[in-house]
Amino acid sequence: MGKVIYPGSFDPVTYGHLDIIKRSASMFEEVVVGVLSNSAKNPLFSLEERTEMIVEAVKDYDNVTVINFDGLLIDFMKKQDISVIVRGLRAVTDFEYELQIAQSNRKISKDTIDTVFLTTSIEYAYLSSSIVKEYARYGTDVSEFVPEYVAFKLKEKYKLM
Ligand code: PNS
Repeated sequence: MGKVIYPGSFDPVTYGHLDIIKRSASMFEEVVVGVLSNSAKNPLFSLEERTEMIVEAVKDYDNVTVINFDGLLIDFMKKQDISVIVRGLRAVTDFEYELQIAQSNRKISKDTIDTVFLTTSIEYAYLSSSIVKEYARYGTDVSEFVPEYVAFKLKEKYKLM
Protein backbone atom coordinates (compact mmCIF):
# COMPACT_ATOMS: atom_id res chain seq x y z
CA MET A 1 0.00 0.00 0.00
CA GLY A 2 2.64 2.47 -1.07
CA LYS A 3 0.72 4.99 -3.09
CA VAL A 4 -2.76 6.26 -2.20
CA ILE A 5 -5.15 8.87 -3.52
CA TYR A 6 -7.04 11.41 -1.47
CA PRO A 7 -9.73 12.64 -3.87
CA GLY A 8 -12.12 15.56 -3.48
CA SER A 9 -13.52 18.80 -4.78
CA PHE A 10 -11.47 20.95 -2.36
CA ASP A 11 -13.53 24.10 -2.95
CA PRO A 12 -11.50 25.33 -1.09
CA VAL A 13 -9.09 23.14 0.87
CA THR A 14 -9.57 23.47 4.66
CA TYR A 15 -7.55 22.53 7.75
CA GLY A 16 -9.79 19.44 7.93
CA HIS A 17 -8.52 18.25 4.52
CA LEU A 18 -4.95 19.19 5.40
CA ASP A 19 -5.16 17.16 8.60
CA ILE A 20 -6.10 14.08 6.54
CA ILE A 21 -3.31 14.80 4.02
CA LYS A 22 -0.72 15.20 6.78
CA ARG A 23 -1.72 12.01 8.54
CA SER A 24 -1.87 10.05 5.26
CA ALA A 25 1.58 11.34 4.32
CA SER A 26 2.99 9.89 7.52
CA MET A 27 1.25 6.55 6.94
CA PHE A 28 1.81 5.92 3.23
CA GLU A 29 4.80 6.22 0.94
CA GLU A 30 3.12 8.57 -1.49
CA VAL A 31 -0.12 10.56 -1.36
CA VAL A 32 -1.72 11.89 -4.52
CA VAL A 33 -4.29 14.58 -3.83
CA GLY A 34 -6.80 14.17 -6.68
CA VAL A 35 -8.70 17.35 -7.44
CA LEU A 36 -11.95 16.64 -9.26
CA SER A 37 -12.35 18.83 -12.32
CA ASN A 38 -15.86 18.00 -13.48
CA SER A 39 -17.57 18.73 -10.19
CA ALA A 40 -21.36 18.73 -10.45
CA LYS A 41 -21.32 21.06 -7.48
CA ASN A 42 -20.65 24.22 -9.51
CA PRO A 43 -17.53 25.18 -7.57
CA LEU A 44 -16.73 28.70 -6.39
CA PHE A 45 -13.07 28.29 -7.37
CA SER A 46 -11.85 27.14 -10.78
CA LEU A 47 -9.91 23.88 -11.06
CA GLU A 48 -6.68 25.86 -11.37
CA GLU A 49 -7.45 27.91 -8.26
CA ARG A 50 -8.43 24.87 -6.18
CA THR A 51 -5.29 23.05 -7.28
CA GLU A 52 -3.01 26.01 -6.67
CA MET A 53 -4.31 26.48 -3.11
CA ILE A 54 -3.55 22.84 -2.26
CA VAL A 55 -0.11 22.95 -3.91
CA GLU A 56 0.71 25.97 -1.75
CA ALA A 57 -0.58 24.26 1.40
CA VAL A 58 1.33 20.97 0.90
CA LYS A 59 4.60 22.39 -0.41
CA ASP A 60 6.52 21.17 2.66
CA TYR A 61 5.54 17.52 2.20
CA ASP A 62 7.98 15.58 0.01
CA ASN A 63 5.64 12.64 -0.60
CA VAL A 64 2.49 14.56 -1.53
CA THR A 65 1.61 15.49 -5.11
CA VAL A 66 -1.48 17.27 -6.43
CA ILE A 67 -3.09 16.09 -9.66
CA ASN A 68 -6.39 17.01 -11.37
CA PHE A 69 -8.70 14.34 -12.60
CA ASP A 70 -11.76 14.16 -14.75
CA GLY A 71 -14.31 11.39 -15.13
CA LEU A 72 -14.44 8.34 -12.91
CA LEU A 73 -12.06 8.13 -10.00
CA ILE A 74 -11.41 4.42 -10.51
CA ASP A 75 -10.40 5.00 -14.17
CA PHE A 76 -7.94 7.67 -13.08
CA MET A 77 -6.58 5.36 -10.39
CA LYS A 78 -5.96 2.58 -12.91
CA LYS A 79 -3.95 4.99 -15.07
CA GLN A 80 -1.95 6.11 -12.03
CA ASP A 81 -1.53 2.54 -10.76
CA ILE A 82 -3.16 3.34 -7.41
CA SER A 83 -5.49 0.90 -5.65
CA VAL A 84 -6.26 2.64 -2.35
CA ILE A 85 -8.48 5.67 -1.73
CA VAL A 86 -8.23 7.68 1.47
CA ARG A 87 -11.28 9.57 2.72
CA GLY A 88 -11.97 11.43 5.93
CA LEU A 89 -15.00 10.69 8.07
CA ARG A 90 -16.21 13.60 10.15
CA ALA A 91 -19.39 12.29 11.67
CA VAL A 92 -22.05 9.67 11.23
CA THR A 93 -23.71 11.93 8.66
CA ASP A 94 -20.76 11.31 6.29
CA PHE A 95 -20.91 7.60 6.75
CA GLU A 96 -23.85 6.61 4.55
CA TYR A 97 -22.60 8.55 1.51
CA GLU A 98 -19.00 7.42 1.96
CA LEU A 99 -19.99 3.79 2.42
CA GLN A 100 -22.06 3.90 -0.76
CA ILE A 101 -19.19 5.35 -2.82
CA ALA A 102 -16.60 3.01 -1.30
CA GLN A 103 -18.70 -0.08 -1.93
CA SER A 104 -19.63 0.87 -5.48
CA ASN A 105 -16.03 1.73 -6.34
CA ARG A 106 -15.00 -1.66 -4.98
CA LYS A 107 -17.72 -3.47 -6.91
CA ILE A 108 -17.14 -1.67 -10.22
CA SER A 109 -13.38 -2.15 -9.98
CA LYS A 110 -13.93 -5.90 -9.44
CA ASP A 111 -12.51 -5.73 -5.91
CA THR A 112 -9.23 -4.17 -7.04
CA ILE A 113 -9.84 -0.84 -5.30
CA ASP A 114 -10.34 -0.31 -1.60
CA THR A 115 -11.10 2.71 0.57
CA VAL A 116 -9.39 3.54 3.84
CA PHE A 117 -11.19 5.92 6.20
CA LEU A 118 -9.45 8.23 8.62
CA THR A 119 -11.56 9.81 11.31
CA THR A 120 -11.14 13.55 11.23
CA SER A 121 -9.38 15.11 14.20
CA ILE A 122 -11.98 16.30 16.65
CA GLU A 123 -11.14 20.00 16.24
CA TYR A 124 -12.11 19.77 12.56
CA ALA A 125 -15.12 17.50 12.93
CA TYR A 126 -17.59 20.31 12.23
CA LEU A 127 -15.61 21.84 9.37
CA SER A 128 -16.63 21.82 5.71
CA SER A 129 -15.73 23.87 2.64
CA SER A 130 -19.40 24.93 2.37
CA ILE A 131 -19.47 26.33 5.91
CA VAL A 132 -16.19 28.17 5.34
CA LYS A 133 -17.55 29.72 2.13
CA GLU A 134 -20.77 30.79 3.83
CA TYR A 135 -18.90 32.60 6.64
CA ALA A 136 -16.36 34.12 4.25
CA ARG A 137 -19.13 35.43 2.03
CA TYR A 138 -20.38 37.62 4.86
CA GLY A 139 -16.95 38.91 5.73
CA THR A 140 -16.24 36.67 8.75
CA ASP A 141 -12.61 35.90 9.46
CA VAL A 142 -12.06 32.25 8.48
CA SER A 143 -8.35 32.06 9.26
CA GLU A 144 -9.02 29.46 11.97
CA PHE A 145 -10.40 27.11 9.33
CA VAL A 146 -8.18 27.57 6.29
CA PRO A 147 -4.55 28.57 5.59
CA GLU A 148 -3.87 32.30 5.32
CA TYR A 149 -3.51 32.12 1.55
CA VAL A 150 -6.93 30.44 1.17
CA ALA A 151 -8.53 33.04 3.47
CA PHE A 152 -7.02 35.73 1.23
CA LYS A 153 -8.35 34.04 -1.94
CA LEU A 154 -11.83 33.85 -0.36
CA LYS A 155 -11.78 37.58 0.42
CA GLU A 156 -10.65 38.30 -3.11
CA LYS A 157 -13.36 36.06 -4.56
CA TYR A 158 -16.11 37.71 -2.55
CA LYS A 159 -14.66 41.16 -3.34
CA LEU A 160 -14.17 41.96 0.33
CA MET A 161 -10.89 43.78 -0.14
O1 PNS B 1 -14.92 16.45 -1.82
P1 PNS B 1 -16.06 15.64 -2.35
O2 PNS B 1 -16.85 16.48 -3.32
O3 PNS B 1 -16.91 15.06 -1.26
O4 PNS B 1 -15.41 14.42 -3.17
C1 PNS B 1 -16.22 13.50 -3.86
C2 PNS B 1 -15.40 12.65 -4.84
C3 PNS B 1 -14.54 13.54 -5.71
C4 PNS B 1 -14.51 11.70 -4.06
C5 PNS B 1 -16.39 11.81 -5.69
O5 PNS B 1 -17.41 12.64 -6.13
C6 PNS B 1 -15.71 11.18 -6.92
O6 PNS B 1 -14.91 10.29 -6.78
N1 PNS B 1 -16.04 11.72 -8.11
C7 PNS B 1 -15.46 11.29 -9.36
C8 PNS B 1 -16.48 10.60 -10.24
C9 PNS B 1 -16.70 9.19 -9.76
O7 PNS B 1 -15.79 8.38 -9.71
N2 PNS B 1 -17.96 8.88 -9.41
C10 PNS B 1 -18.32 7.58 -8.88
C11 PNS B 1 -18.44 7.59 -7.38
S1 PNS B 1 -19.57 8.87 -6.80
